[in-house]
Amino acid sequence: MTPAIRPLIAGNWKMHGTSSSLPELKAVASGFTNAAGEGAEGVVCVPATLLGRAGEILAASPVAAGGQDCHPAPNGAHTGDIAAEMLADCGARYVIVGHSERRTDHHESDADVASKAEAAWRAGLIAIICVGETKAQREAGDTLSVLSGQIAGSVPAGATAGNTVIAYEPVWAIGTGLTPTPEDVAKAHAHLRAELKKKLGDEANAMRILYGGSVKPSNAAELLSLLNVDGALIGGASLVAADFLAIASAVKSK
Ligand code: 13P
Repeated sequence: MTPAIRPLIAGNWKMHGTSSSLPELKAVASGFTNAAGEGAEGVVCVPATLLGRAGEILAASPVAAGGQDCHPAPNGAHTGDIAAEMLADCGARYVIVGHSERRTDHHESDADVASKAEAAWRAGLIAIICVGETKAQREAGDTLSVLSGQIAGSVPAGATAGNTVIAYEPVWAIGTGLTPTPEDVAKAHAHLRAELKKKLGDEANAMRILYGGSVKPSNAAELLSLLNVDGALIGGASLVAADFLAIASAVKSK
């Protein structure tokens, strides 16, 4: 982790969860401080259908509620889409934008992601902007240049350490059980910090950069010990409160 940055442990439930999953959220809310300590923050980004109830469950807890995507516009004729203002109205404090599954499934470009981040800020939300290379890009040796391009295109000029979190999620590590080596993670995060500094100046020093992609209780301590890794964005393991809390506990002693 980076000294003086408050770590963030973030869950992304993706398209998982119904009412029967809410007890997991309650367990996360009640166990988080004990697991992670007072110095860490948590957020769980639930499906939109659960957000109102998640907002109520998490309201008085150290864990925030978050959405997984938002439309750039505050309202309008966009059937099936959700405005950032609607997420905020349900109690969200964060929203993920530019997840690789959105970039792939919905053909979202860097420019789309940047306008969603600006929509998040307009609604008072913190944007978690995701970047990461595919397997083919990695094998071609293009990881760092892909990350540079995504930071240049997806992070708007108004980004601050208060309104934005960056999540490095190598696409090939998501849901596969594979992770980059600690050296590769450290190199990617240092590169992201340098690119953010080029763009945002000293503001970048305090911006949280999360690692995501097959984070589990068994690898969390090693990943979170790395410089410039200021938390985690967790998919599958965030669905089980005990696993999410075990990952969160990796920041306690840091
Ligand atoms: P997994 O933790 O399931 O690999 O998912 C990572 C992710 O995509 C979080 O946004």
